[in-house]
Amino acid sequence: MQRTKIVDVLKRTDYGVDVNIKGWVRTRRGNKNVSFIALNDGSTIHNIQIVVDLAKLDEEKLKTVTTGACISVTGKLVESQGKGQTVEIQADDILIYGGADPETYPLQKKGHSLEFLREIAHLRPRTNTFGAVFRVRHHMAIAIHKFFHDRGFFYFHTPLITASDAEGAGQMFQVTTLDLENIKLTEEGKVDYSDDFFGKPANLTVSGQLEGELAAMALGAIYTFGPTFRAENSNTPRHLSEFWMIEPEVAFNEIEENMQLAQDFIQYCIQWALDNCIDDLNFLAEMYDKELIERLRFVVDNDFVRLPYTEGVKILEEAVSKGYKFEYPVGWGTDLQSEHERYLVEQHFKKPVILTDYPQEIKAFYMKQNDDGKTVRAMDVLFPKIGEIIGGSQREEDFEKLRTRAASMGVPEKDIWWYLDTRRFGTAPHSGFGLGFERLLLFVTGMTNIRDVIPFPRTPKNADF
Ligand code: 4AD
Ligand code: MG
Repeated sequence: MQRTKIVDVLKRTDYGVDVNIKGWVRTRRGNKNVSFIALNDGSTIHNIQIVVDLAKLDEEKLKTVTTGACISVTGKLVESQGKGQTVEIQADDILIYGGADPETYPLQKKGHSLEFLREIAHLRPRTNTFGAVFRVRHHMAIAIHKFFHDRGFFYFHTPLITASDAEGAGQMFQVTTLDLENIKLTEEGKVDYSDDFFGKPANLTVSGQLEGELAAMALGAIYTFGPTFRAENSNTPRHLSEFWMIEPEVAFNEIEENMQLAQDFIQYCIQWALDNCIDDLNFLAEMYDKELIERLRFVVDNDFVRLPYTEGVKILEEAVSKGYKFEYPVGWGTDLQSEHERYLVEQHFKKPVILTDYPQEIKAFYMKQNDDGKTVRAMDVLFPKIGEIIGGSQREEDFEKLRTRAASMGVPEKDIWWYLDTRRFGTAPHSGFGLGFERLLLFVTGMTNIRDVIPFPRTPKNADF
Protein backbone atom coordinates (compact mmCIF):
# COMPACT_ATOMS: atom_id res chain seq x y z
CA MET A 1 0.00 0.00 0.00
CA GLN A 2 1.18 3.52 -0.84
CA ARG A 3 2.59 5.42 2.13
CA THR A 4 0.84 8.61 3.26
CA LYS A 5 2.72 11.35 5.10
CA ILE A 6 1.47 12.17 8.58
CA VAL A 7 0.95 15.83 7.66
CA ASP A 8 -1.58 14.66 5.05
CA VAL A 9 -3.20 11.91 7.12
CA LEU A 10 -3.97 14.40 9.89
CA LYS A 11 -6.05 16.49 7.48
CA ARG A 12 -8.22 13.59 6.30
CA THR A 13 -11.79 12.82 7.34
CA ASP A 14 -12.54 9.79 5.15
CA TYR A 15 -12.82 7.55 8.18
CA GLY A 16 -12.83 3.80 7.68
CA VAL A 17 -10.32 3.63 4.82
CA ASP A 18 -7.03 1.73 5.13
CA VAL A 19 -3.83 3.76 5.21
CA ASN A 20 -0.11 3.09 5.55
CA ILE A 21 2.22 5.38 7.43
CA LYS A 22 5.90 5.11 8.28
CA GLY A 23 7.87 6.95 10.90
CA TRP A 24 9.80 6.99 14.15
CA VAL A 25 8.22 6.14 17.48
CA ARG A 26 8.13 9.03 19.93
CA THR A 27 6.42 7.22 22.79
CA ARG A 28 4.46 4.07 23.53
CA ARG A 29 2.17 3.66 26.50
CA GLY A 30 -0.85 1.54 27.38
CA ASN A 31 -2.06 -1.46 29.37
CA LYS A 32 -2.40 -5.18 28.77
CA ASN A 33 -5.28 -4.78 26.33
CA VAL A 34 -4.32 -1.78 24.25
CA SER A 35 -1.20 0.12 23.34
CA PHE A 36 -0.89 3.73 22.08
CA ILE A 37 2.01 4.70 19.87
CA ALA A 38 2.82 8.34 19.05
CA LEU A 39 4.46 8.29 15.62
CA ASN A 40 6.27 11.13 13.82
CA ASP A 41 7.69 11.15 10.29
CA GLY A 42 9.15 14.67 10.18
CA SER A 43 6.50 16.02 7.80
CA THR A 44 4.91 18.00 10.65
CA ILE A 45 5.42 18.83 14.31
CA HIS A 46 2.33 16.75 15.10
CA ASN A 47 2.39 13.03 15.86
CA ILE A 48 -0.29 10.61 14.84
CA GLN A 49 -1.66 8.22 17.42
CA ILE A 50 -1.65 4.50 16.58
CA VAL A 51 -4.00 2.36 18.61
CA VAL A 52 -2.93 -1.28 18.89
CA ASP A 53 -5.38 -3.93 20.06
CA LEU A 54 -3.12 -6.46 21.77
CA ALA A 55 -5.51 -9.28 20.92
CA LYS A 56 -4.70 -8.62 17.26
CA LEU A 57 -0.92 -8.22 17.35
CA ASP A 58 1.90 -10.35 18.68
CA GLU A 59 2.97 -8.99 22.05
CA GLU A 60 6.64 -10.03 21.65
CA LYS A 61 6.85 -8.02 18.47
CA LEU A 62 5.32 -4.99 20.13
CA LYS A 63 8.02 -5.05 22.80
CA THR A 64 10.55 -3.86 20.24
CA VAL A 65 8.38 -0.87 19.33
CA THR A 66 10.20 1.50 21.66
CA THR A 67 11.10 5.19 21.50
CA GLY A 68 13.25 5.82 18.43
CA ALA A 69 12.29 2.64 16.55
CA CYS A 70 11.26 3.00 12.91
CA ILE A 71 8.03 1.27 11.92
CA SER A 72 5.52 0.94 9.11
CA VAL A 73 1.89 0.76 10.16
CA THR A 74 -1.09 -0.35 8.12
CA GLY A 75 -4.53 0.17 9.55
CA LYS A 76 -7.85 1.96 9.52
CA LEU A 77 -8.20 5.71 9.77
CA VAL A 78 -10.72 6.51 12.50
CA GLU A 79 -12.06 9.57 14.25
CA SER A 80 -10.20 10.04 17.49
CA GLN A 81 -11.96 9.92 20.83
CA GLY A 82 -8.93 11.32 22.65
CA LYS A 83 -8.13 14.97 23.18
CA GLY A 84 -5.60 16.84 21.03
CA GLN A 85 -6.13 14.99 17.76
CA THR A 86 -8.95 14.49 15.30
CA VAL A 87 -7.83 11.24 13.66
CA GLU A 88 -5.95 8.16 14.72
CA ILE A 89 -5.10 4.79 13.22
CA GLN A 90 -6.29 1.41 14.39
CA ALA A 91 -3.36 -0.82 13.52
CA ASP A 92 -3.90 -4.06 11.60
CA ASP A 93 -0.24 -4.72 10.97
CA ILE A 94 3.08 -3.29 12.10
CA LEU A 95 6.41 -3.86 10.35
CA ILE A 96 9.53 -2.99 12.29
CA TYR A 97 12.25 -1.51 10.09
CA GLY A 98 14.70 -0.85 12.89
CA GLY A 99 14.56 -1.04 16.66
CA ALA A 100 16.28 1.40 19.03
CA ASP A 101 17.68 -0.16 22.17
CA PRO A 102 16.19 1.73 25.16
CA GLU A 103 19.48 1.24 27.02
CA THR A 104 21.51 3.15 24.46
CA TYR A 105 19.18 5.37 22.38
CA PRO A 106 20.00 8.87 23.71
CA LEU A 107 16.65 10.54 23.06
CA GLN A 108 14.62 8.77 25.73
CA LYS A 109 13.09 11.34 27.98
CA LYS A 110 11.60 14.60 26.88
CA GLY A 111 13.27 17.89 27.63
CA HIS A 112 16.97 17.35 26.91
CA SER A 113 19.00 20.55 27.13
CA LEU A 114 19.96 22.26 23.88
CA GLU A 115 23.62 21.91 24.94
CA PHE A 116 23.26 18.14 25.21
CA LEU A 117 21.45 17.97 21.88
CA ARG A 118 24.36 19.80 20.20
CA GLU A 119 26.55 16.86 21.19
CA ILE A 120 24.23 14.52 19.33
CA ALA A 121 23.66 16.72 16.30
CA HIS A 122 23.28 13.56 14.20
CA LEU A 123 20.08 12.64 16.09
CA ARG A 124 18.68 15.99 17.14
CA PRO A 125 16.58 16.47 13.96
CA ARG A 126 14.36 13.78 15.48
CA THR A 127 13.33 16.06 18.33
CA ASN A 128 10.32 18.38 18.13
CA THR A 129 12.51 21.46 18.49
CA PHE A 130 14.95 20.66 15.70
CA GLY A 131 12.27 19.25 13.43
CA ALA A 132 10.53 22.62 13.76
CA VAL A 133 13.72 24.66 13.30
CA PHE A 134 14.83 22.79 10.18
CA ARG A 135 11.40 22.92 8.59
CA VAL A 136 11.38 26.70 9.17
CA ARG A 137 14.92 26.89 7.74
CA HIS A 138 13.69 25.21 4.55
CA HIS A 139 10.71 27.54 4.23
CA MET A 140 12.92 30.59 4.71
CA ALA A 141 15.20 29.44 1.89
CA ILE A 142 12.19 29.09 -0.40
CA ALA A 143 10.89 32.53 0.65
CA ILE A 144 14.25 34.11 -0.21
CA HIS A 145 14.31 32.68 -3.73
CA LYS A 146 10.67 33.58 -4.27
CA PHE A 147 11.11 37.16 -3.09
CA PHE A 148 13.96 37.85 -5.48
CA HIS A 149 12.67 35.79 -8.40
CA ASP A 150 9.30 37.59 -8.28
CA ARG A 151 11.12 40.92 -8.45
CA GLY A 152 13.26 40.00 -11.46
CA PHE A 153 16.55 39.36 -9.63
CA PHE A 154 18.78 36.63 -11.02
CA TYR A 155 20.28 34.00 -8.73
CA PHE A 156 24.01 34.26 -9.40
CA HIS A 157 26.61 31.74 -8.21
CA THR A 158 29.80 33.24 -6.86
CA PRO A 159 32.88 31.11 -6.17
CA LEU A 160 33.58 29.55 -2.80
CA ILE A 161 37.31 29.36 -3.44
CA THR A 162 38.87 32.74 -4.16
CA ALA A 163 42.17 34.57 -4.07
CA SER A 164 40.77 37.85 -2.73
CA ASP A 165 39.65 38.97 0.71
CA ALA A 166 36.36 40.67 -0.12
CA GLU A 167 35.95 42.32 3.26
CA GLY A 168 39.65 43.08 3.67
CA ALA A 169 39.36 41.82 7.23
CA GLY A 170 41.85 38.96 6.95
CA GLN A 171 39.61 36.33 8.52
CA MET A 172 40.05 33.68 5.87
CA PHE A 173 40.50 29.93 5.85
CA GLN A 174 43.35 29.04 3.56
CA VAL A 175 42.81 26.40 0.86
CA THR A 176 45.96 24.49 -0.03
CA THR A 177 47.23 21.14 -1.22
CA LEU A 178 50.76 21.88 -0.03
CA ASP A 179 52.24 19.29 2.29
CA LEU A 180 52.23 21.21 5.58
CA GLU A 181 54.80 18.83 7.06
CA ASN A 182 57.23 19.64 4.33
CA ILE A 183 56.93 23.15 2.94
CA LYS A 184 59.17 24.33 0.14
CA LEU A 185 60.54 27.83 0.67
CA THR A 186 61.70 30.44 -1.85
CA GLU A 187 65.17 31.93 -1.74
CA GLU A 188 63.81 34.73 0.49
CA GLY A 189 62.52 32.13 2.95
CA LYS A 190 58.84 32.62 2.02
CA VAL A 191 56.40 29.79 1.23
CA ASP A 192 56.70 28.86 -2.44
CA TYR A 193 53.11 28.90 -3.67
CA SER A 194 54.03 28.14 -7.26
CA ASP A 195 53.71 24.48 -6.29
CA ASP A 196 50.34 24.96 -4.63
CA PHE A 197 47.15 23.81 -6.37
CA PHE A 198 46.23 27.23 -7.77
CA GLY A 199 49.81 28.44 -8.10
CA LYS A 200 49.12 31.18 -5.53
CA PRO A 201 47.52 31.49 -2.09
CA ALA A 202 43.77 30.80 -2.09
CA ASN A 203 41.07 30.84 0.56
CA LEU A 204 37.42 30.14 1.24
CA THR A 205 35.23 33.12 0.48
CA VAL A 206 34.16 35.53 3.23
CA SER A 207 31.55 37.11 0.94
CA GLY A 208 30.35 36.81 -2.66
CA GLN A 209 29.88 40.54 -2.91
CA LEU A 210 32.74 41.53 -5.20
CA GLU A 211 31.79 38.94 -7.81
CA GLY A 212 28.12 39.82 -7.20
CA GLU A 213 28.88 43.42 -8.14
CA LEU A 214 30.37 42.28 -11.44
CA ALA A 215 27.12 40.49 -12.17
CA ALA A 216 24.91 43.42 -11.13
CA MET A 217 26.84 45.63 -13.54
CA ALA A 218 25.71 43.33 -16.34
CA LEU A 219 22.42 41.67 -15.35
CA GLY A 220 21.06 44.64 -13.40
CA ALA A 221 19.86 42.91 -10.25
CA ILE A 222 21.23 39.71 -8.80
CA TYR A 223 21.41 37.85 -5.52
CA THR A 224 23.67 35.18 -4.14
CA PHE A 225 22.72 32.61 -1.53
CA GLY A 226 25.46 30.33 -0.36
CA PRO A 227 27.90 29.32 2.35
CA THR A 228 30.42 31.82 3.66
CA PHE A 229 33.46 31.13 5.80
CA ARG A 230 35.09 33.26 8.47
CA ALA A 231 38.02 32.29 10.62
CA GLU A 232 37.24 34.91 13.24
CA ASN A 233 37.88 33.55 16.69
CA SER A 234 34.54 34.69 18.12
CA ASN A 235 32.91 32.14 20.35
CA THR A 236 29.57 33.92 20.70
CA PRO A 237 25.93 32.87 20.33
CA ARG A 238 25.79 34.89 17.08
CA HIS A 239 28.92 33.80 15.18
CA LEU A 240 29.60 30.72 13.07
CA SER A 241 32.76 29.86 11.15
CA GLU A 242 30.56 28.57 8.32
CA PHE A 243 27.30 30.41 7.74
CA TRP A 244 24.97 31.12 4.85
CA MET A 245 24.61 34.59 3.42
CA ILE A 246 22.18 36.18 0.98
CA GLU A 247 23.68 39.08 -0.96
CA PRO A 248 21.53 41.09 -3.37
CA GLU A 249 23.27 43.66 -5.55
CA VAL A 250 21.41 46.18 -7.71
CA ALA A 251 22.66 48.51 -10.42
CA PHE A 252 21.39 52.11 -10.13
CA ASN A 253 20.12 51.67 -6.56
CA GLU A 254 21.29 54.30 -4.11
CA ILE A 255 21.36 53.85 -0.36
CA GLU A 256 17.70 54.83 0.19
CA GLU A 257 16.50 52.16 -2.25
CA ASN A 258 18.91 49.69 -0.68
CA MET A 259 17.36 50.34 2.74
CA GLN A 260 13.86 49.90 1.38
CA LEU A 261 14.87 46.64 -0.29
CA ALA A 262 16.33 45.36 2.99
CA GLN A 263 13.15 46.19 4.90
CA ASP A 264 10.82 44.74 2.25
CA PHE A 265 12.96 41.59 2.05
CA ILE A 266 13.03 40.85 5.77
CA GLN A 267 9.35 41.64 6.22
CA TYR A 268 8.49 39.34 3.32
CA CYS A 269 10.48 36.46 4.80
CA ILE A 270 8.90 36.88 8.23
CA GLN A 271 5.40 37.08 6.78
CA TRP A 272 6.19 33.90 4.83
CA ALA A 273 7.09 32.15 8.06
CA LEU A 274 3.83 33.28 9.67
CA ASP A 275 1.88 32.07 6.63
CA ASN A 276 3.67 28.74 6.11
CA CYS A 277 5.17 27.60 9.42
CA ILE A 278 2.62 28.58 12.03
CA ASP A 279 2.41 25.13 13.68
CA ASP A 280 6.17 25.02 14.14
CA LEU A 281 6.32 28.65 15.30
CA ASN A 282 3.55 28.07 17.83
CA PHE A 283 5.47 25.11 19.19
CA LEU A 284 8.71 27.13 19.47
CA ALA A 285 6.83 30.04 21.06
CA GLU A 286 5.29 27.72 23.63
CA MET A 287 8.62 26.08 24.44
CA TYR A 288 11.11 28.94 24.33
CA ASP A 289 9.68 32.38 23.83
CA LYS A 290 6.09 33.32 24.60
CA GLU A 291 6.35 36.67 22.75
CA LEU A 292 7.72 35.20 19.53
CA ILE A 293 4.64 35.51 17.32
CA GLU A 294 3.85 38.98 18.60
CA ARG A 295 7.42 40.10 17.86
CA LEU A 296 7.30 38.69 14.32
CA ARG A 297 4.01 40.48 13.63
CA PHE A 298 5.42 43.71 15.02
CA VAL A 299 8.37 43.65 12.65
CA VAL A 300 6.15 42.95 9.66
CA ASP A 301 3.79 45.82 10.54
CA ASN A 302 6.26 48.60 11.37
CA ASP A 303 8.75 50.62 9.34
CA PHE A 304 12.35 50.36 10.44
CA VAL A 305 13.92 53.48 11.96
CA ARG A 306 16.58 55.09 9.72
CA LEU A 307 19.30 56.93 11.55
CA PRO A 308 22.86 58.14 10.85
CA TYR A 309 25.58 56.52 12.97
CA THR A 310 26.49 59.94 14.38
CA GLU A 311 22.96 60.34 15.80
CA GLY A 312 23.04 56.78 17.14
CA VAL A 313 26.28 57.43 18.99
CA LYS A 314 24.77 60.60 20.51
CA ILE A 315 21.87 58.55 21.90
CA LEU A 316 24.30 56.02 23.35
CA GLU A 317 26.48 58.72 24.91
CA GLU A 318 23.40 60.28 26.46
CA ALA A 319 22.46 56.91 27.94
CA VAL A 320 25.95 56.62 29.44
CA SER A 321 25.75 60.13 30.87
CA LYS A 322 22.45 59.17 32.53
CA GLY A 323 24.15 56.24 34.20
CA TYR A 324 23.46 53.36 31.79
CA LYS A 325 26.34 50.85 31.95
CA PHE A 326 27.83 49.27 28.83
CA GLU A 327 30.66 46.76 28.97
CA TYR A 328 32.50 48.47 26.07
CA PRO A 329 33.14 52.20 25.66
CA VAL A 330 31.22 54.07 23.00
CA GLY A 331 32.11 57.26 21.16
CA TRP A 332 32.26 58.63 17.62
CA GLY A 333 34.65 56.44 15.60
CA THR A 334 34.26 53.24 17.61
CA ASP A 335 32.67 50.18 16.09
CA LEU A 336 29.39 49.44 17.83
CA GLN A 337 29.20 46.30 19.95
CA SER A 338 26.15 44.10 20.04
CA GLU A 339 25.14 45.64 23.42
CA HIS A 340 25.09 49.11 21.84
CA GLU A 341 23.09 47.95 18.85
CA ARG A 342 20.60 46.22 21.10
CA TYR A 343 20.26 49.28 23.32
CA LEU A 344 19.19 51.38 20.33
CA VAL A 345 16.74 48.74 19.14
CA GLU A 346 15.35 47.33 22.38
CA GLN A 347 15.54 50.21 24.85
CA HIS A 348 15.49 53.39 22.82
CA PHE A 349 13.46 52.93 19.63
CA LYS A 350 11.80 49.58 20.40
CA LYS A 351 11.90 48.87 16.66
CA PRO A 352 14.41 47.57 14.09
CA VAL A 353 16.89 50.31 13.21
CA ILE A 354 18.89 50.94 10.04
CA LEU A 355 22.06 52.78 10.98
CA THR A 356 23.79 54.61 8.11
CA ASP A 357 26.86 56.71 7.30
CA TYR A 358 29.49 55.05 9.50
CA PRO A 359 33.04 56.38 9.94
CA GLN A 360 35.09 55.14 6.99
CA GLU A 361 37.84 53.71 9.23
CA ILE A 362 35.61 50.98 10.61
CA LYS A 363 34.10 49.92 7.27
CA ALA A 364 35.31 48.08 4.17
CA PHE A 365 37.21 49.75 1.31
CA TYR A 366 34.44 49.44 -1.27
CA MET A 367 31.84 51.70 0.39
CA LYS A 368 30.85 54.99 -1.24
CA GLN A 369 32.57 57.94 0.37
CA ASN A 370 30.38 60.80 1.57
CA ASP A 371 31.27 64.42 0.83
CA ASP A 372 32.17 65.07 4.48
CA GLY A 373 35.42 63.13 3.94
CA LYS A 374 34.78 61.15 7.13
CA THR A 375 31.85 58.81 6.62
CA VAL A 376 30.79 56.22 4.07
CA ARG A 377 27.38 55.24 2.78
CA ALA A 378 27.15 52.08 4.88
CA MET A 379 23.98 50.62 6.34
CA ASP A 380 23.59 48.06 9.09
CA VAL A 381 20.16 46.70 9.94
CA LEU A 382 19.89 46.13 13.69
CA PHE A 383 17.32 43.76 15.16
CA PRO A 384 15.89 43.07 18.60
CA LYS A 385 17.62 40.13 20.34
CA ILE A 386 20.14 39.82 17.48
CA GLY A 387 21.95 43.10 16.93
CA GLU A 388 23.32 43.28 13.36
CA ILE A 389 21.30 41.12 10.98
CA ILE A 390 22.29 42.88 7.71
CA GLY A 391 25.41 44.74 6.62
CA GLY A 392 25.46 46.62 3.34
CA SER A 393 26.22 49.84 1.52
CA GLN A 394 26.11 51.91 -1.58
CA ARG A 395 29.35 51.11 -3.42
CA GLU A 396 32.05 53.55 -4.45
CA GLU A 397 31.58 53.84 -8.20
CA ASP A 398 34.39 56.34 -8.84
CA PHE A 399 37.50 54.56 -10.12
CA GLU A 400 40.11 56.89 -8.62
CA LYS A 401 38.43 57.16 -5.24
CA LEU A 402 38.04 53.40 -4.99
CA ARG A 403 41.60 52.71 -6.06
CA THR A 404 43.02 55.21 -3.59
CA ARG A 405 40.91 53.88 -0.74
CA ALA A 406 41.81 50.24 -1.46
CA ALA A 407 45.50 51.13 -1.49
CA SER A 408 45.29 53.06 1.76
CA MET A 409 43.55 50.11 3.42
CA GLY A 410 46.20 47.68 2.24
CA VAL A 411 44.15 45.83 -0.40
CA PRO A 412 46.65 45.04 -3.21
CA GLU A 413 45.55 46.27 -6.64
CA LYS A 414 46.86 43.08 -8.25
CA ASP A 415 44.22 41.12 -6.28
CA ILE A 416 41.27 43.29 -7.31
CA TRP A 417 42.19 44.60 -10.78
CA TRP A 418 39.14 42.83 -12.18
CA TYR A 419 36.89 44.50 -9.59
CA LEU A 420 38.36 47.90 -10.39
CA ASP A 421 37.58 47.25 -14.08
CA THR A 422 33.83 47.66 -13.37
CA ARG A 423 34.65 51.27 -12.41
CA ARG A 424 36.95 51.70 -15.39
CA PHE A 425 34.34 50.55 -17.91
CA GLY A 426 30.74 51.70 -17.74
CA THR A 427 30.60 52.41 -14.04
CA ALA A 428 27.28 53.33 -12.37
CA PRO A 429 25.86 53.83 -8.89
CA HIS A 430 24.93 50.53 -7.29
CA SER A 431 24.16 49.09 -3.88
CA GLY A 432 23.71 45.83 -2.05
CA PHE A 433 23.79 44.11 1.29
CA GLY A 434 24.36 40.79 3.00
CA LEU A 435 21.82 39.08 5.25
CA GLY A 436 23.14 36.41 7.61
CA PHE A 437 20.73 33.52 7.05
CA GLU A 438 21.26 32.04 10.52
CA ARG A 439 20.77 35.43 12.18
CA LEU A 440 17.41 35.71 10.39
CA LEU A 441 16.57 32.20 11.60
CA LEU A 442 17.47 33.15 15.18
CA PHE A 443 14.94 35.94 14.96
CA VAL A 444 12.22 33.88 13.30
CA THR A 445 12.51 30.78 15.51
CA GLY A 446 13.21 32.57 18.80
CA MET A 447 16.25 30.35 19.40
CA THR A 448 19.05 32.15 21.22
CA ASN A 449 22.18 30.29 20.09
CA ILE A 450 23.18 30.33 16.41
CA ARG A 451 24.44 26.73 16.79
CA ASP A 452 20.81 25.67 17.07
CA VAL A 453 19.56 26.98 13.72
CA ILE A 454 22.09 25.26 11.41
CA PRO A 455 22.17 21.47 11.19
CA PHE A 456 25.90 21.00 11.77
CA PRO A 457 27.49 24.13 13.26
CA ARG A 458 31.16 24.92 12.69
CA THR A 459 32.75 27.07 15.39
CA PRO A 460 36.29 27.42 16.77
CA LYS A 461 37.54 23.96 17.85
CA ASN A 462 34.39 22.27 16.61
CA ALA A 463 33.85 20.57 13.24
CA ASP A 464 32.13 17.35 14.34
CA PHE A 465 29.70 15.43 12.14
O1 4AD B 1 28.50 42.74 7.62
P1 4AD B 1 29.13 41.67 6.78
O2 4AD B 1 30.52 41.27 7.09
O3 4AD B 1 28.98 42.19 5.30
C1 4AD B 1 29.47 41.58 4.19
O4 4AD B 1 30.02 40.51 4.15
C2 4AD B 1 29.16 42.35 2.92
N1 4AD B 1 30.05 41.86 1.86
C3 4AD B 1 27.71 42.18 2.58
C4 4AD B 1 27.32 42.92 1.33
O5 4AD B 1 27.26 44.13 1.36
N2 4AD B 1 27.04 42.21 0.25
O6 4AD B 1 28.22 40.35 6.85
C5 4AD B 1 26.87 40.42 6.45
C6 4AD B 1 25.99 39.70 7.45
C7 4AD B 1 26.03 40.27 8.86
O7 4AD B 1 25.18 41.38 8.99
C8 4AD B 1 25.57 39.09 9.68
O8 4AD B 1 24.16 38.96 9.64
C9 4AD B 1 26.16 37.92 8.93
O9 4AD B 1 26.42 38.36 7.61
N3 4AD B 1 27.41 37.45 9.54
C10 4AD B 1 27.53 36.32 10.26
N4 4AD B 1 26.62 35.40 10.60
C11 4AD B 1 27.05 34.34 11.34
N5 4AD B 1 28.32 34.17 11.73
C12 4AD B 1 29.28 35.08 11.41
N6 4AD B 1 30.55 34.87 11.78
C13 4AD B 1 28.89 36.21 10.64
N7 4AD B 1 29.56 37.29 10.13
C14 4AD B 1 28.65 38.01 9.47
MG1 MG C 1 28.90 43.89 9.27
